[in-house]
Amino acid sequence: MAVGKSVIRLDSKEKVTGRALYVEDIYMTGMLYAKVFRSPVAHGIIKNLDISEALKIKGVKGIFTAKDIPGKNIIHVILDDQPFLAKEKVMYPGHPIAVVAAITPEACEKALKTIKVEIEELPAIIDFEQSKNNSVKLFENNNVFCSFKIRKGDFDKKYDSNDYVTVEETFYTQHQEHAYIEPQGAIVYWEDDTLTIRGSMQAPFYVQRAVSEVLNLQYSRVRVIQQTTGGAFGGKEDVPSLVCAQAAICAYHLRVPVRIVYDREEDMQTMSKRHPSRVKIKLTADKTGKFVHVYGDYLENAGAYSTLTPAVLYRGTVHLPGPYKIDNIYVDAEAVATNTVPNGAYRGFGSPQVIFAMESAVDMLAEKLGMDPVEIRGKNLVDYGDTNSTGQILNDSVGMKEVYNKVVEKADYFNWKKQIEEFNSKSEYIKKGLGVSTLYYGVGLGAAGKSMSRCASMVKIDADGSVTASVGVTEMGQGLRTVTAQMVAEFLGIDIDKVVVSQIDTSRISDTGPTVASRGTITAGWGVLSALAKIKKSLHKFLEKKYNTSFEDVYFKDGKVKFGNNELEYSELIKMATDEKIHLHETGLHVPPDTTFDKETGLGDAYYAYAWAMNILETEVNKLTGEVTLKKAVCGHDVGKAINPREVAGQIMGGSLQGLGYGLMEDMQVSSKGKIITSNFSTYTIPTSCDIPEFIPVIVESNYSKGPYGAKGFGEQPLMGMAPALTNSIYNAVGARVKQIPATPERVQESMKNIDF
Ligand code: MTE
Ligand code: MOS
Repeated sequence: MAVGKSVIRLDSKEKVTGRALYVEDIYMTGMLYAKVFRSPVAHGIIKNLDISEALKIKGVKGIFTAKDIPGKNIIHVILDDQPFLAKEKVMYPGHPIAVVAAITPEACEKALKTIKVEIEELPAIIDFEQSKNNSVKLFENNNVFCSFKIRKGDFDKKYDSNDYVTVEETFYTQHQEHAYIEPQGAIVYWEDDTLTIRGSMQAPFYVQRAVSEVLNLQYSRVRVIQQTTGGAFGGKEDVPSLVCAQAAICAYHLRVPVRIVYDREEDMQTMSKRHPSRVKIKLTADKTGKFVHVYGDYLENAGAYSTLTPAVLYRGTVHLPGPYKIDNIYVDAEAVATNTVPNGAYRGFGSPQVIFAMESAVDMLAEKLGMDPVEIRGKNLVDYGDTNSTGQILNDSVGMKEVYNKVVEKADYFNWKKQIEEFNSKSEYIKKGLGVSTLYYGVGLGAAGKSMSRCASMVKIDADGSVTASVGVTEMGQGLRTVTAQMVAEFLGIDIDKVVVSQIDTSRISDTGPTVASRGTITAGWGVLSALAKIKKSLHKFLEKKYNTSFEDVYFKDGKVKFGNNELEYSELIKMATDEKIHLHETGLHVPPDTTFDKETGLGDAYYAYAWAMNILETEVNKLTGEVTLKKAVCGHDVGKAINPREVAGQIMGGSLQGLGYGLMEDMQVSSKGKIITSNFSTYTIPTSCDIPEFIPVIVESNYSKGPYGAKGFGEQPLMGMAPALTNSIYNAVGARVKQIPATPERVQESMKNIDF
């Protein structure tokens, strides 16, 4: 049995020994380095661009501007509003204007300093709350990129009688930096008259399309291979299209290999981030604590271009009301333009912001009602047969209640709470607190992105019985190749060592859409299982013919194959079938269940499956300084089926810590001129091993009937509820309600101001 086992990650050895080849490890004969010339200002008109002196610098082989683009000057994502290189206008500090290729990075740098650009500055919009209908026009008439809404049940009803209790509050969230270990990079070269791109990325098919369109090459002349990728977290979904196109335009014109690798500062200043936001919540319950209505108003700062914002905003809209039975819902969501870096995908995709707001409001309401935060959640959580925020009937793999019960039990919550109260009664300045959050996550691209929802694969069995599998989704550190190999091994009843999952290459596999939205396990699983089913069919036919009998099925187990009353060694069967020219090489294409949504009401079957989670966090707050220490976290997740329990636990711990960083310390600062000034890890601090609390992961397996071996996705979910668990624990400790994250010591102190010491 391979599924359900904590096998060691297939890529672990090469990564920990340093043998893995990242983009920067690749060197090719005659290779040039590329660097990007960028706008120094947030908003302006390019009056003149002079590259003539820079071109004379020794070692500089080419400088490419918008004039040198053979195809469209657009990086395709969703709305097609982002140019590849700025031609007339610059829209944010760091906006790419030209790309330099030279024989050394130093020569590139020299050229960047020598290029002359004259820009007539325009008034810029930095504060996103000022963007809509501003006289400065950044996008169409009103600067609104997109909007979504939900109108469910009696959404307009007023609840002002004494029978109801309401909380109304506004919350703010900041940018979050992906902080992947490996910065953006790619190497591009010609091979067999095909422009070949090896890059650090999540979505090779995006890169293939974007570069083809920029360079006016047919898709099949652009071959994209994902190089070992040192972390992504959403930051390598759409952005590599831009980065790869920068190296590609140089390689295209100069016909030599060109490598581009960003340094950390450039990466942090110019690459996508999590959308900053303002979320207004008005949550109403009856006197018993049953939620009757939620009103939400979600405003996202998209930055200069829309990139993935429509997908991010849709997810935020659907997830705002949380995993609760609420019959009446009114949500408005909008994303607006500013002259700051375009924001994009980041683990959770627009939902951590609204979950922070809603989960804070749930606690505030519990307090008003005199209820415990765990109790109020228990009263309102959805179960089988209930509907979610968009009216979708939840009837498959609804593990919310089970997660809740297991987490409360594992945490021994009510005793834990007592111990903390005891501690606090004896401690004057250091106070402990518990914070709770419950949440859910729609797996896959959802109704707003379903056009890309498919799973392509290839499986080939060689004569010795070893297997090569290829899927259209990528490994970015989350363990996808390992779980894919486990599912192949499980199907064929063979050892996982016999299975190789090859790196994704667009010349070998067809478009599967991006590896995002926690769809990796489900997509890879569906993909390989559909190809394997065909191989099994061929073997079935072959055996029936060979044995001159018919039987219902072929069973693969423990290296053996059983059919009718017969049994063969797996390797023997494969050798026999190969010798008799049976083609043990199949491709698969699986199309996931449909999703729907109505533009007017937001109602429909938003996602095909949902994962469920609950977190309880203990922190210690210093009342004098406002400093918060993370102590212990019990984090429960329903994953359908844990294909690899150790990897699931790893995702829970890593993701939760990333969420705690978001809530507690990651404080990206943008100057009044729109420039990111915390552009390295000394000014933008993320959690280190010293900050990690004791983690107790709780895995719930509610079996998703339409998932491979019952699995669904959950890779983003661990991050999503940690910020409110943190701020709720701070409130529990010292009575300070932090409404704007991160909860820096200054903000905690500020929120404590009304408190009597
Ligand atoms: N884990 C690691 N180590 N590195 C990553 O880049 N990305 C996260 C999550 N876990 C990420 C990660 C994000 S944003 C997503 S969408 C999922 O993994 C994607 O993986 P899956 O769908 O295969 O679970
Ligand atoms: Mo994850 S943000 O969906 O790549």
